[in-house]
Amino acid sequence: MEQSNVKSSAQGANGHAKFDLDIEAIRARARRDIESGAVTDTYRADRETVLRLLNEALATELVCTLRYKRHFFMARGLNAEPVAAEFAEHAAEEQAHADRLAERIVQLGGEPDFSPDGLQKRSHAEYVEGDTLQDMIRENLIAERIAIDSYRQMVEYVGDQDPTTRRLLEEILAAEEEHADDLSDFLAKN
Ligand SMILES: [Fe+2]
Ligand SMILES: [Fe+2]
Repeated sequence: MEQSNVKSSAQGANGHAKFDLDIEAIRARARRDIESGAVTDTYRADRETVLRLLNEALATELVCTLRYKRHFFMARGLNAEPVAAEFAEHAAEEQAHADRLAERIVQLGGEPDFSPDGLQKRSHAEYVEGDTLQDMIRENLIAERIAIDSYRQMVEYVGDQDPTTRRLLEEILAAEEEHADDLSDFLAKN
């Protein structure tokens, strides 16, 4: 199986298939398609679909940031202080996720959608205010569980087609799992 970047698959002295990059072809393509930035000919994913998924994830992170901010300012009651501090920490982390997603969208030649119009529709998770501290914790846990499932499905979809996007999604997924775990601890205590 001769790939475009592989010159030869002849057997080397140690019995392993010999592998050389076709560096001349790589250099020529790099020069020719320079306006494509980080996206090269060997990008194997469906770029339009990846960009749409990343923009949906971006909307989700923005909605989650707003919901955690609202809950941080509205958390009241005896046990509110540590919970409010956790909400603030999560808000900052969701904001950082949004930034990393936006950065990847631009790297892939897309445009990050920060428009407030339709933000809730693009988001996987919902913006629910909740009346009590308990409600807020529960709504955040539900939103995290939605994020976990959607990131996991995105990771599966991307597979080995776009390793950089996959790694980003996996890192965010791990953070959302930690968030969900923090929230279930609070749910048990409050
Ligand atoms: Fe997040
Ligand atoms: Fe989260």
